[in-house]
Amino acid sequence: MTAAPDVPAAVPNHVGIIMDGNGRWAGQRGLARTEGHKRGEAALFDTVEGALAAGLQWLTVYAFSTENWRRPAPEVRFIMWFNRDLLVRRADELNERGVRVRFIGRRTAPIPKSLLKIMDDAEQLTAENRRLTLQIAFNYGGQAELGDAAGRLARDVASGRLAPEDVDESSLAQRLYAPDAPDVDLMVRSSGERRLSNFLLWQAAYAELVFDEVLWPDFRRDHLFAAIHEFNRRTRRFGAV
Ligand code: IPE
Ligand code: IPE
Ligand code: MG
Repeated sequence: MTAAPDVPAAVPNHVGIIMDGNGRWAGQRGLARTEGHKRGEAALFDTVEGALAAGLQWLTVYAFSTENWRRPAPEVRFIMWFNRDLLVRRADELNERGVRVRFIGRRTAPIPKSLLKIMDDAEQLTAENRRLTLQIAFNYGGQAELGDAAGRLARDVASGRLAPEDVDESSLAQRLYAPDAPDVDLMVRSSGERRLSNFLLWQAAYAELVFDEVLWPDFRRDHLFAAIHEFNRRTRRFGAV
């Protein structure tokens, strides 16, 4: 980035961010991968401040995927411990900033019970806030979400709550983890990777994609602003002409 971008005058409804590159950031410095995850905290909170400053209403960040359990056990353990610690330290601050915190993903083992409890607490503490909804995708996979929604449809049909002929894209969308969240307008990924890695597959159907080379620990609100400016220059057609 050359000059710092202005705070955008117009913002999309919903921005998704794939916070990627922590391990490479650490590797470049001869540090353990976990050090990169630690440094990601400052990136996230500066980005949230930027979202608040710009008046963004929905921000969903990818923190841990259903596939990330494949990582070495010590790294996974660190991420679980670190996120619990982060929520304990930061929940009040997010609440005071008017942020509604919400988690999307499978809220089950192997997430430690003590972390699940802290996640519930943070949601309850911030439930009335409306300035910004920060959705944290944790043990989240787009395919898992669609599979879970299909399971709910099947159960609702079996119990007679839903007629088979009413199974369609809107009844499925109502059974996603956060059915009230608007579709994603802008999807940002750091670290130069150009893929979705199973993030918000349904909700990002018409998202504009912006890829930034910056590694997540170095991401700041200016990178969010630059992505929003890029979004504002795009023409969206939604299949029409
Ligand atoms: C993103 O950074 C954080 C998580 C997936 C938990 P990575 O840990 O994937 O960092 P790289 O991609 O290996 O650099
Ligand atoms: C996606 O990043 C998941 C998160 C950022 C939490 P990964 O680093 O896991 O994705 P891949 O493996 O490079 O596709
Ligand atoms: Mg990665």
